[in-house]
Amino acid sequence: MSSQPTGGSRVSLKDVKKAFGSNVVLQGIDLEIPAGQFVSIVGKSGCGKSTLLRLMIGLDSVTSGVLDAPALKEQAARIVFQEPRLLPWASVKDNVAVGLGEGQSGKAADIQAAAILDEVGLKGREGLWPSQLSGGMRQRVALARALVSQPTLLALDEPLGALDALTRIDMQALLEGVWQDLGFTALMVTHDVGEAVALGDRVILIDHGQVVLDLTVDLPRPRKRGTPEFAALEGQILDKLFGDDPRAREAH
Ligand SMILES: Nc1ncnc2c1ncn2[C@@H]1O[C@H](COP(=O)(O)OP(=O)(O)OP(=O)(O)O)[C@@H](O)[C@H]1O
Ligand SMILES: [Mg+2]
Repeated sequence: MSSQPTGGSRVSLKDVKKAFGSNVVLQGIDLEIPAGQFVSIVGKSGCGKSTLLRLMIGLDSVTSGVLDAPALKEQAARIVFQEPRLLPWASVKDNVAVGLGEGQSGKAADIQAAAILDEVGLKGREGLWPSQLSGGMRQRVALARALVSQPTLLALDEPLGALDALTRIDMQALLEGVWQDLGFTALMVTHDVGEAVALGDRVILIDHGQVVLDLTVDLPRPRKRGTPEFAALEGQILDKLFGDDPRAREAH
């Protein structure tokens, strides 16, 4: 038993600006994201990545400009954060069922929860408690909770940022597989340029509230790190992020 493809939905931003009081966080943002695309979003801390993500899934509203995303009208947008934010007193299955919303319980909810847990590789773990899971497994439960309602738009705000390097690589493969199976549009913020290139159809770099690079990643999947093509794309992003500062580049 596993989940059926849900498909994705498009997102369009035209001259979008977001300010908090006099603090202009984003401006002049023009983006056309086709249905089903995997978009990686990178940029230095505080540049406006999370703000952009929140706008695109309707958690906040634009100050000016036009944001058009059918998923928002259909209430089919969800988000995964860096921390899994599970209910410690609820089983894995019940944590996932939370994603179905109020009043959704019983057999139908159990079947949907079991299907999506299978999809994220947690078949048979329905009855465990969050405290019995590893960090990677907890984040898979959070992913299942976000996906159980079959969203067409999924935002991920540094979803793998709290995991160790090896778990992170496993989770990247898992995320790619789930996205390929279900077909939702994915918007993923990450600090890891390699991760952005590994997973994105496209990498968007934000700097001082603007899109300063919009790079298409046209490499076959699953992608092999360390190839010259992969390294060249990473290099283009790092150049734009850090210019020629060798110490800053070394840190990545
Ligand atoms: N609700 C808010 N009210 C006021 N200012 C905000 C709010 N949310 C974000 N900001 C401001 O917007 C700017 C961008 O914040 P944002 O969280 O989008 O950055 P980020 O790129 O996600 O950073 P990080 O990589 O550290 O997560 C910051 O100056 C922040 O203080
Ligand atoms: Mg952020």
